Amino acid sequence: MSSKTSTITVDGKSVELPVKEGTIGPSVIDISKLYGQTGMFTYDPGFTSTAATESKITYIDGDKGILLYRGYPIDQLAEHGDFLETCYLLLYGELPTAAQKADFDYRVTRHTMVHDQMNRFFTGFRRDAHPMAIMVACVGALSAFYHDSTDISDPHQRMIASMRMIAKMPTLAAMAYKYSIGQPFVYPQNDLDYTSNFLRMCFAVPAEEYKVNPVLSRALDRIFILHADHEQNASTSTVRLAGSSGANPFACIAAGIACLWGPAHGGANEAALKMLEEIGTPDRIPMYIAKAKDKNDPFRLMGFGHRVYKNYDPRARIMQKTTHEVLNELGIKDDPLLDVAIELEQIALKDEYFVEKKLYPNIDFYSGITLKAMGFPTSMFTVLFALARTVGWIAQWSEMIEDPSQRIGRPRQLYTGAPHRDYVTLAQRG
Ligand code: SDX
Repeated sequence: MSSKTSTITVDGKSVELPVKEGTIGPSVIDISKLYGQTGMFTYDPGFTSTAATESKITYIDGDKGILLYRGYPIDQLAEHGDFLETCYLLLYGELPTAAQKADFDYRVTRHTMVHDQMNRFFTGFRRDAHPMAIMVACVGALSAFYHDSTDISDPHQRMIASMRMIAKMPTLAAMAYKYSIGQPFVYPQNDLDYTSNFLRMCFAVPAEEYKVNPVLSRALDRIFILHADHEQNASTSTVRLAGSSGANPFACIAAGIACLWGPAHGGANEAALKMLEEIGTPDRIPMYIAKAKDKNDPFRLMGFGHRVYKNYDPRARIMQKTTHEVLNELGIKDDPLLDVAIELEQIALKDEYFVEKKLYPNIDFYSGITLKAMGFPTSMFTVLFALARTVGWIAQWSEMIEDPSQRIGRPRQLYTGAPHRDYVTLAQRG
């Protein structure tokens, strides 16, 4: 514990507040006693300068474009490992031994089926229901089936619930996709690896054998690694806040899915592809760059900018490389959307508006092109983001639940509404 302190002077009265230092990155001023000592709150609506928690899971250096999962650089994990190895690392803090990896893979694989009565939820939805709406509903509904893993005070039940969600997200995501195209659900197959299993559940049909393309499976597995966790982003903070009330893990992850859906967050991959389609050809890029810079125009370049990264998102670089790999494997020589994306990136990175505001491509800029080339409809892009981020949400939720100092999250406010006033009867109101 650091002995450093920070002094804040309020109305001529000075208050000493402890400073806490991390392993790497900014230190924090512990203001938990500030209200008691000064009668004042701090104010930071977007949490731009506020640490809501201590964590050992993921570290981001936004200025240097660095992302570490439990200290390991994202590019090394994406290059050398697979998604379930990253899941193990995020959950348990260390890379697994061969025996631990085999056991973890075995356990996840044997939780991939969902209760067969869940199939009936789908028939209640219209075929054109957005798959994110279906995921919010179905993941929340898992708590109606798995009462034996909702007691969050029991570490064993927390572990089972975690395994179930990591394992069942691909199955539910594939079911949402199949339902939207009127094809029968495909059950998981235990002799396939996690991501190959997911591809088969999405694209196999009963009429013929489905052969997994190992290049596409490896590419999608890497995309899942890139999306697995990202410290205290909006959806993770939602999961932590929901969990702080003692809500069951399935309900907390459903809350995270709902938050991720927003176009400013995980919904940006869907919005970015729609933007590239709307731009259509490179000659229309200047018009959209002007719109993005126009204060009176709500248009933003989707897939650009980030609250933390003020440099290139390291995930976007790996994503771009994966895009080329997938397009080459599929023999897609010239994808007009990719041409627009590359040209747009080059123009934006030279434009003084984007340079001055440090707006770089983020993970959502290239992911849509890759997923579309793989055969996923745009509406499934954020579902794939949620599938991958489930492990990050669970790791962060577990860390919060296991923190002995954990309390219900309850922010305060600056009140600027009406002061006290007495009731006026209808007759007196005229
Ligand atoms: C994700 O938090 C995470 O870690 C999220 C994530 C994860 O893995 O969990 O990384 C995933 O959500 C990535 C971000 C995906 N969203 C988008 O691509 C949507 C487009 N980007 C923006 O809406 C925006 O950049 C945010 C939401 C990502 C960040 O918003 P901030 O930090 O609140 O920044 P801001 O909106 O205050 O913008 C700062 C300035 C503003 O101009 P001024 O008011 O200062 O003049 O930059 C401008 C903005 O207008 N700006 C943009 C822009 N993003 C910011 N201008 C044009 N196009 C953009 N994309």
